[in-house]
Amino acid sequence: MLGIATDVVPFESVWERAQEIESPHLPKEHGKVLFEISQRAPGNCVEIGSWMGRSTALIGSAVRNSGGRLYSIDHWNKIAGGIVQTDMDIWKSWNQTVNDWDLEKFVIPLRGLSHEIASGWNFKRHSIGFLFIDGLHSYLETSPLRFPDEWKKEYGMTGWQIAGREVPLEDYAPIFPRGAKLDYDAWAGNVVPGGYLIMHDVNRPEHPGCSKVWSEDVVDSKLWTIIIDGDGFGMARKN
Ligand SMILES: C[S@@+](CC[C@H](N)C(=O)[O-])C[C@H]1O[C@@H](n2cnc3c(N)ncnc32)[C@H](O)[C@@H]1O
Repeated sequence: MLGIATDVVPFESVWERAQEIESPHLPKEHGKVLFEISQRAPGNCVEIGSWMGRSTALIGSAVRNSGGRLYSIDHWNKIAGGIVQTDMDIWKSWNQTVNDWDLEKFVIPLRGLSHEIASGWNFKRHSIGFLFIDGLHSYLETSPLRFPDEWKKEYGMTGWQIAGREVPLEDYAPIFPRGAKLDYDAWAGNVVPGGYLIMHDVNRPEHPGCSKVWSEDVVDSKLWTIIIDGDGFGMARKN
């Protein structure tokens, strides 16, 4: 905890402003829980999957209120050695968000693949009180990654950069072995007892990977007490 005294900003005003930040799917009811739980986290907050910064702005504003800290993990465009071509610079947008919201003192970006960052992380020194997983949504046994047409349009996605050559999205659908599971395995075991885990896009047929990790590793496990087991949103407390 940084212990910096600041004016406390309420959720409603944070949420209203956060609408300006594009997000694949982060509705108000999810945002509210993220905001509230981040202020109560018994340790650092870590988010896996930041995109252009809507969840970062919410969690970042919450830790500014409470004097905590958020580590934001994303590769910001690079996916498992390939690059999804978009006409947007997500890294630039994320930095713009953090800068516009004046969150630099509270939010630390860690650019790379989440499991690689975890391997260099000192979990004793930087304890985790709240982990938000919203990164890769795949799993080994689930289907290859395909982008819905509306995403392609909305985010201007065109193709993958593979070995220096652009391959159209419809010609290539990679499988990221254990995507969501890898994020879970690399980080969740290190959430402190009493700390929180939120997994996004669980219990959704269009995201079988997230749903599988959630049901097998969290709901069916004695490690966690389930607090929310909802449509697209799962929250648990570490026992
Ligand atoms: C659904 S978006 C995150 C949305 C964001 N939480 C929001 O509020 O708008 C998923 C993000 O996860 C990132 N990502 C996916 N897999 C990752 C991994 N293994 N390591 C780091 N970042 C990853 C992608 O680059 C993408 O920006």
